[in-house]
Order: sequence, then structure tokens, then C-alpha cells
Amino acid sequence: MLPRSNMRMITFSFAALTLLSGACNEPGKQVVQADANADQLYQLCTQCHGQQLEGNSEIAAPAVAGLPAWYVESQLEKFKAGVRGTHFDDIAGMRMRPMAMSLTAADIKTVAGKVADMAPHATPPLLDGDPARGKTLYAPCTACHGPVAAGNQQLSAPPLTQSPDWYLFTQLKNFKHGVRGANPKDITGAQMRPMAQGLADEQAMRDVIAYIGTL
Ligand code: HEC
Ligand code: HEC
Repeated sequence: MLPRSNMRMITFSFAALTLLSGACNEPGKQVVQADANADQLYQLCTQCHGQQLEGNSEIAAPAVAGLPAWYVESQLEKFKAGVRGTHFDDIAGMRMRPMAMSLTAADIKTVAGKVADMAPHATPPLLDGDPARGKTLYAPCTACHGPVAAGNQQLSAPPLTQSPDWYLFTQLKNFKHGVRGANPKDITGAQMRPMAQGLADEQAMRDVIAYIGTL
């Protein structure tokens, strides 16, 4: 065993060395800074989305852990630009918007990568729906979201299996009633809107979501 003072010396010189090599080596330094920034940005998200980004239904903040970086980026950009989260009926979207507005384009890229790296959370179903009826209703959805709802980046369609059912329900209602996807600048939202409009009523939405829950 080394005496405590020697240990401290070693720890100190190791820290100094790391700093020094960081300063001499530009790419290394950038990585260290980017990581620190990613953690700081991430902490902001946990206030509403939870420590592991598992979501908090009480404030309508969905689980976002493990959503693909391209989708998280696209949505943060939409919130920031007011393409999403500005409709007067979109209380939850308005809660998210100021956060996105405080982020720079670089922040958005960094934090989206961090969100995508988190493990997705399984959330217990809260809604009643008939998955057998939902299976038929899901058939047209496969064209964009895929047969197991894993999403399709080429079509800008996100995975649906990682999001809690109450959140999917809200979004289908939002799309149907023009609370989301009706902004003229929302190109990808406009692709989704008619699909939600094609679901006859809230029971149809519950059914299709129940089926998504089995995938
Ligand atoms: C003040 C609370 C709050 C904070 C802080 C917050 N969010 Fe949100 N976020 C929400 C709410 C509420 C929603 C749901 C909006 C809706 O229903 O349309 C949301 C929605 C989202 C969505 C859309 C999810 C989807 O499936 O379309 C993403 C992505 C997201 N947040 C990422 C983040 C990230 C990344 C951070 C940190 C930089 C963050 N949020 C910080 C409250 C918050
Ligand atoms: C033509 C392609 C297309 C079809 C078909 C389609 N969607 Fe989508 N969907 C999208 C796109 C694109 C988005 C992302 C919109 C955006 O960028 O805001 C989306 C978003 C969603 C969302 C919001 C997810 C989130 O995390 O906020 C839900 C829920 C959803 N779709 C469910 C469905 C269901 C259920 C069906 C079948 C009834 C369906 N979609 C059919 C393209 C499609």
C-alpha cells in the first residue's frame, strides 16, 4: 500500500497528464468537451422525461429513450421552429417547446445522439383496446412504420413500439384534429395526418395502439 499522500500525488499527476495531452491533441480535447456538453444537455431533459428518459405521464412527457437520433433531431427542430408545439390546443407541445428553443443546432445534434444511446423502456399498457381489430387497422401503417413498427428513416416514420400507449393516443388525436401536422411547414407531419384521419374514432385508435403493443 502506498501512503495516502503518494496516492494523491499520483492521482494529481494523472489528472494533469490527461489535461495536458488533451490540450496538445485537438481531436482528443474536442471529444472530452463534447461529452461534458452532452451530459449537461441530457440533465435538462431528465427534469421532465425522467432520469432514464423513461417518461412521466403526469406531465404528459413521453419516454424518449432509444428513439433514433434522426427522429429526435427532426422533432427538436420542429419544436424550435414552431412547426410543432404552437397550436393553441397543444398544451403538452407548448411545455416542450421552450426547451427546444434554448438549444443551438449543434446542441440538438449532440443531445439527440445521447437520447438515441439510452436503452428503451417497456411501459405497461394503460388503454383498453382490441389488438385483433387493431391488426386489421394497422395494415396500411406498415407502408411507412413497417410490419413490426420499427420505423423507416427514408420515409421519416419513427418507430412506435418505444412510446407509451397514452402518448401514441394523444398524437393520433393531435394529427386527426390538426393539432400536429397541419402547419404548412410540416412536410412529414402532413404525410401522417391523413392516416390518423382514416381512423374512424377513438376506439379505432385504441385498437390499433393495442396491436402495436403486441409487436
Ligand atoms: C419542461 C418539460 C420538458 C423538458 C425539460 C423536455 N421535454 Fe421533451 N417533451 C415534453 C413534453 C410534455 C412532450 C410531449 C409533447 C407532445 O405531446 O406533443 C415532449 C416531447 C418530446 C419529444 C417528441 C417525442 C416523440 O416521440 O415525438 C422529444 C424528441 C423530446 N421531447 C425530447 C426532449 C429532449 C432531448 C429534451 C432535453 C434537451 C427535452 N425533451 C426536454 C416535455 C419536456
Ligand atoms: C405515408 C407514411 C405513413 C403512414 C402510412 C403512417 N404513418 Fe405514422 N407517421 C409518419 C411520419 C412521417 C411520422 C412523423 C411525423 C413527424 O415528423 O412529425 C409519423 C408519426 C406517427 C406517430 C407519432 C409518433 C411519435 O413518436 O410522436 C404515430 C403515433 C403514428 N405515426 C401512427 C401511425 C399509425 C397508427 C398509422 C396507421 C393507421 C400510421 N402512423 C401510418 C408516416 C406514416
